[in-house]
Amino acid sequence: MSQAPLPLPQQRRFGQTNRTDAWWLQPIVVFLGLGAFIVYSTWAAFVGVDYFYAGQGAHYLSPFYSPLVFGGPHEPSMFGAKPEWMPLWVSPALLILWAPGGFRFTCYYYRGAYYKAFWADPSNCAVGEPRSCYRGEASLPLILQNIHRYFLYLALIFILILSWDAWKGMWFLTDGVEEWGIGVGTLVLIGNVIFLGGYTFGCHSLRHLIGGRFDSLSKKPARMKAYECVTCLNKSHMRWAWISLFWVGFTDFYIRMCAMGVWTDWRII
Ligand code: FES
Repeated sequence: MSQAPLPLPQQRRFGQTNRTDAWWLQPIVVFLGLGAFIVYSTWAAFVGVDYFYAGQGAHYLSPFYSPLVFGGPHEPSMFGAKPEWMPLWVSPALLILWAPGGFRFTCYYYRGAYYKAFWADPSNCAVGEPRSCYRGEASLPLILQNIHRYFLYLALIFILILSWDAWKGMWFLTDGVEEWGIGVGTLVLIGNVIFLGGYTFGCHSLRHLIGGRFDSLSKKPARMKAYECVTCLNKSHMRWAWISLFWVGFTDFYIRMCAMGVWTDWRII
């Protein structure tokens, strides 16, 4: 059923408000933070090199390239070398990043944040907008944001894949034998799983999936416990969103710096 745009209840000029606080500060911070991440991650995804570090026997794979669909001879790729028919500009990251990227882009928290920061819809609560009606998410194109619940299933698979990468980061090749150890890169990879896990397991869609659709949870103790855990993470969803965003970018940066020989990975154990 199509819906007509709703007229805004009170017409204000763009930016006009009775608010006396710095309402513009949060959208600016979001714009700069999200903008910086988008620029860096797009560059890192296209560049197609220095995403894997095997120096000193380490096994560190950038989360932007995991799972590694195609790769070089000594890289942990699924299907070996990249086929010749594939255009040069298609990097292994471009083949997979649509899934975690789509999950984040359609996240309920980020939607509220980037609607304000990138196209002022709304500018902020009780602040005049640069338009006279509100279309909401009930029509195209924003109705497509409802796909978030399906991206959630993919994001959960990615948590498993990145956990495997963190596990592989605990094994170092010494004289042809794998031995257990911990390097700074290992901790960076573990941190990445923890922060992305905190973000993903606090997802609003997951919360609904686990308990939100039931009238009475008290008769299902295991589900109730899981619901409480998701709710606990969900309360700080914004914080998890930003920490995990920063850390996943830093994880790629750390491995890239090691692979380029700019930084040395310290072995702790
Ligand atoms: S609502 Fe933010 S990840 Fe689902």
